[in-house]
Amino acid sequence: MSNLNFLYTFNYDYHLDALCKLESRQIFDTEEKDKLLFSPIKVDPSISAFIKTRLEIISSSENYSELLEKIKKENIHIEGFTAEYLILNGDSIDRTERRKKLKDVGFCMEGIPNFTTPSITYSIGHYEDIWHFGILTKHNNDWYKHKKKPHSFSNSISMDIAKTLVGVASQGNKTKTILDACCGVGTVVLEGCCSGFDIAGCDINLKAILHTRQNLAYYNYTANLYCLDIKDHNTQYAAAIIDLPYNLYSHSDDEVTSNIIGSTAKLTNRVVIVSISDIEAVIQKSGLTVTDYCSIVKKGKSTFTRNIWVCEKVSTVSVN
Ligand SMILES: C[S@@+](CC[C@H](N)C(=O)[O-])C[C@H]1O[C@@H](n2cnc3c(N)ncnc32)[C@H](O)[C@@H]1O
Repeated sequence: MSNLNFLYTFNYDYHLDALCKLESRQIFDTEEKDKLLFSPIKVDPSISAFIKTRLEIISSSENYSELLEKIKKENIHIEGFTAEYLILNGDSIDRTERRKKLKDVGFCMEGIPNFTTPSITYSIGHYEDIWHFGILTKHNNDWYKHKKKPHSFSNSISMDIAKTLVGVASQGNKTKTILDACCGVGTVVLEGCCSGFDIAGCDINLKAILHTRQNLAYYNYTANLYCLDIKDHNTQYAAAIIDLPYNLYSHSDDEVTSNIIGSTAKLTNRVVIVSISDIEAVIQKSGLTVTDYCSIVKKGKSTFTRNIWVCEKVSTVSVN
């Protein structure tokens, strides 16, 4: 547990459980459990639709008094700090006790607190008989504003799926360049921009590109957009996302799917694909290997399943 110095908390509806676990495997190499996860990997909680907070652990102890001693020994002197109690799975502490504990922690540090606009937030929490103290970073809900984007279409993927696709494609690494190969009205590109990724969009349809451009401009985001058949695009990316045509507004069959996947695979070694049918055989023919997968059932007027395929070039998949 010594190098697992980040504690993440998660929140999601039960129908998105598989999606959250896919993201967790791809970013942290392990699944969250009890809606929390300890990891040596540091990621910005705001890149995920599911991560609520990140606690950067400074001290831990089985004994509460010992934890306070450890905090004192850190000699923290900081102006404008605040402290919050982090309620972790299995902790049934009541409000009065939480406030008392936050006071205890506050007295272990020097500086004048600021509860309205803090410069830093410290936190304590209790999980499986161990107390943890550290610096808390909260998820920023700014991306909810995308619900009101100027252009949308009824079968577009939801914002939380779009956000997850960016997290899975990038594996949480903001230095990776990403392409949304079939960007439609830009649902994925918006989430990528909002989280600070270098993401570009491509679509064969001029109207789709114009709508993506207007959606981005509405929020003051900038991204390279290409009105092209993906087969004619020639920039290399660290990863790509494909939300395949569903044969509703744009035509699709195995040949169209195969061409889009094959052309995208020429631009990157890592592709995350969304489909509404089983396309594993088509993926394999394009020289990609499926390394992870999940499906999400969308219930509404018509119930349908979305499959998410994490694929890598055969030559880049390590064989153990
Ligand atoms: C399911 S939609 C993508 C929706 C998108 N995720 C959104 O949120 O708006 C599929 C898109 O693929 C585009 N498309 C189809 N064939 C293409 C090709 N060969 N190259 C690039 N885009 C293509 C279509 O114009 C359509 O906008």
